[in-house]
Amino acid sequence: MHSFGYRANAVLTFAVTILAIICAIASLSDNFNNPSPTAHVQVLNVNWFQKQPNGDDVVSLTLNVSADLQSMFTWNTKQVFVFLAAEYETPQNSLNQISLWDGIIPAKEHAKFDIQTTNKYHFADQGANLRGREFNLTLHWHVMPKTGKMFADKIVMTGYHLPDRYR
Ligand SMILES: *[C@@H]1O[C@H](CO)[C@@H](O)[C@H](O)[C@H]1NC(C)=O
Ligand SMILES: *[C@@H]1O[C@H](CO)[C@@H](O)[C@H](O)[C@H]1NC(C)=O
Repeated sequence: MHSFGYRANAVLTFAVTILAIICAIASLSDNFNNPSPTAHVQVLNVNWFQKQPNGDDVVSLTLNVSADLQSMFTWNTKQVFVFLAAEYETPQNSLNQISLWDGIIPAKEHAKFDIQTTNKYHFADQGANLRGREFNLTLHWHVMPKTGKMFADKIVMTGYHLPDRYR
């Protein structure tokens, strides 16, 4: 006769094994999801553009951020973290990356959006490098799964530039 403890242990081991298999399938099935997100960002307005007393350039923009990230969501997706970064080159640095806006998308229903917003974080350059500067806006995302490993990707939008004069 098996003792109660032995049987309980066997049931538990079985349950843990099944759970491990389900988790493996869940993260594996994510590999078969080929997301096709789209993003479009427009600079609606340059609200102000100044050289600060410390010599740094700072600019305030109003942005129209529209994106459809619904295809990233699978039944294994917990949430998606997104951020929009301005990326540009200066004589000092080959890549300057400044986060302008970010958000957490908790569910597929919220993954298609169109928002008008000023930059949530300062678009500031250490130096007076922003006049007439060309930049890219890159939408980065990190998909946080319920189980398995996190993955990240981005969409690069090119061809933006800042005004030649402070205003
Ligand atoms: C924002 O962009 C979307 C998609 O390109 C467009 O349909 C919408 O009219 C834009 N909104 C404004 C206020 O420009
Ligand atoms: C913008 O992105 C394109 C394509 O990735 C790249 O070739 C270009 O150098 C970038 N421009 C700036 C100003 O960073």
